[in-house]
Formats: sequence, C-alpha cells, structure tokens
Amino acid sequence: MNFSKTLITWYLQNKRDLPWRNTSDAYYIWLSEIMLQQTRVAQGLPYFLAFTKTFPTVFDLANADEEQVLKLWQGLGYYSRARNLHATAKQVAFEENGKFPNHYKALLKLKGIGEYTAAAIASFSYNEAVPVVDGNVYRVLSRYFNIETDIASRKAKKEFTQLATELIDVEQPALFNQAIMEFGALQCVPKSPDCANCPLNNSCLAFGMKKVDQLPVKLKK
Ligand code: ADE
Repeated sequence: MNFSKTLITWYLQNKRDLPWRNTSDAYYIWLSEIMLQQTRVAQGLPYFLAFTKTFPTVFDLANADEEQVLKLWQGLGYYSRARNLHATAKQVAFEENGKFPNHYKALLKLKGIGEYTAAAIASFSYNEAVPVVDGNVYRVLSRYFNIETDIASRKAKKEFTQLATELIDVEQPALFNQAIMEFGALQCVPKSPDCANCPLNNSCLAFGMKKVDQLPVKLKK
C-alpha cells in the first residue's frame, strides 16, 4: 500500500473522536484551527466547546462584545488571536453574509487566515485538494523521505508544501490532511516514537537509516 493509503487506513483505526471532525461547517472548522494554533488539543477542546455553545453561529460571535470574547478566551493565551477571531467573524458575518468563502484563495484574503488555516478550511469543509503543512507534517515527511532541510527556513515551507501537494489523495483530501496531522500527533511523535509498531516502518527512510531522532532538522534562528 502506498504512503497516502496507509496513512488513511491508520487514521480510520486510530483517530481521536474530536468535535470539529464531525462537521464540515466552515465556522466550526475555522474556530477549531485558530484555537489549536500553539495549543494542544486537550487544552483547546474545552474552549472550543464553550465557544460553540455561547456563539453557535458566526453571527453570534460577530455580534458579541469584545469583552465577552476575551473573557471566554481567558487562559488560552496569545490574546491577539481572540481579537483577530472577533474581527474575522465580523468580516464574514457582515461582508460575506455569514458564509466563509468556499475555496483556498478566497479564504486567504480573510484577516488572520494564513496558508495553514486556509488549507484546513478548504480541505475539511469543501474537500479541496490543498495540503495542510504544520509541524506534524514537517516531522512525518522529513522522516519518511529523509529530508534534512532546516524546517525553520523559508525553503522548507516551499519544499514540504510541494511534496505534500504531490502526496495528497485527491479523491479524499480532507481525510488525507486529518490523517497526516493525527499521525504526527499520535504515532510519529517528536520524542521516542514507537517505530516498531508503525505501519510505515518498512518504507520509512529515517527508520531504515536509524536517524529518526535526528529529524526534522531545526536550526536555531
Ligand atoms: N491541531 C490543529 N488542527 C487539528 C485538527 N484538525 N485536529 C487535531 N489536532 C489539530
């Protein structure tokens, strides 16, 4: 089985049941992705539940007082995220009739939505074949393909994005993107991964060369 099919098979057997995975509503996907930036799932989850309960639609969030939004955000840190979140909600509610744009390029134009978040929404909500490229993806790909490019460099983003674009399963891009991120989060973890029980170990170049612990390369800036 090839890389993408193996990942997806692994994912279907091992994935965590997370609320933003049971929806294709772009508002919920967007909310979860903004919250999970620089934040662990276990920490972000209760905030996601509180936000969706208090603000079930983008209009509810847009119409809220900034004070209320910041208060609900308390404890998550990086408060500029909460302010951006509120501003984007207003933009979507009042300038886009409450609908998130339905493709990658248009999503990128929204405030606070960069390449990663646009790819996550475009693939998870609209099944567009654009790859998500985050720290998990860098780790999985650098190991599997033995790529020694410094992941803090600008070159890396281009290189890994191109590779992920070639690998993405165009028949099921949402599933592929969830799968590679979850694989990085649960199996191909930063420290002491359990390679003996990895479904990709027979074709993983880093494993074959005994250098899993040396990848990805991240030089200090
Ligand atoms: N971290 C960032 N996005 C995520 C997602 N969609 N599922 C799990 N963890 C994530």
